[in-house]
Amino acid sequence: MKYKAICYLSNIKPSLNKGEIDDLMDFSVHQNNKRAITGLCILLDNHFYQILEGEPNAVDELFSKIKKDNRHNGLIKLIDKPIKDKIFAEYYGGDFAIVKKRVDVNKLKIYLEWLKNANIPEINELLLLTENFLKYNNGL
Ligand SMILES: Cc1cc2nc3c(=O)[nH]c(=O)nc-3n(C[C@H](O)[C@H](O)[C@H](O)COP(=O)(O)O)c2cc1C
Repeated sequence: MKYKAICYLSNIKPSLNKGEIDDLMDFSVHQNNKRAITGLCILLDNHFYQILEGEPNAVDELFSKIKKDNRHNGLIKLIDKPIKDKIFAEYYGGDFAIVKKRVDVNKLKIYLEWLKNANIPEINELLLLTENFLKYNNGL
């Protein structure tokens, strides 16, 4: 297995203020870029959705930390599977992406459409879940 992808949902604890959330996101981007983990975080209200893709050990190691983190709860893992290619490797210039603002959501929607047209069966489920997350959290 060259790469793997993990995708999950959770809720950020309401006690976290905006500054703490921003710090967590900045930290995550920095760390993930260092470990060549690509993907995204979508944060709409307190609803959190993350896709992590990269070298299997790096992704598993990170996810085991995230699972234990008490800054969020209600974590549900949706996908954990090998992938041939990282689908977000070139998104955001290869940086791990944070999607919070409307402009980021719109950019992501365009990218998801583009991926759909690329017709890559192994990512169909991931695309559907991401679209559904946006849809049910007022992102679409
Ligand atoms: C919702 C959520 C998402 C997170 N995402 C990442 C992430 O993408 N990358 C990362 O390095 N840490 C992320 N973290 C932080 C990790 O849980 C953990 O605090 C961090 O990896 C530092 O762990 P360490 O100090 O043991 O190395 C996230 C935490 C939360 C609550």
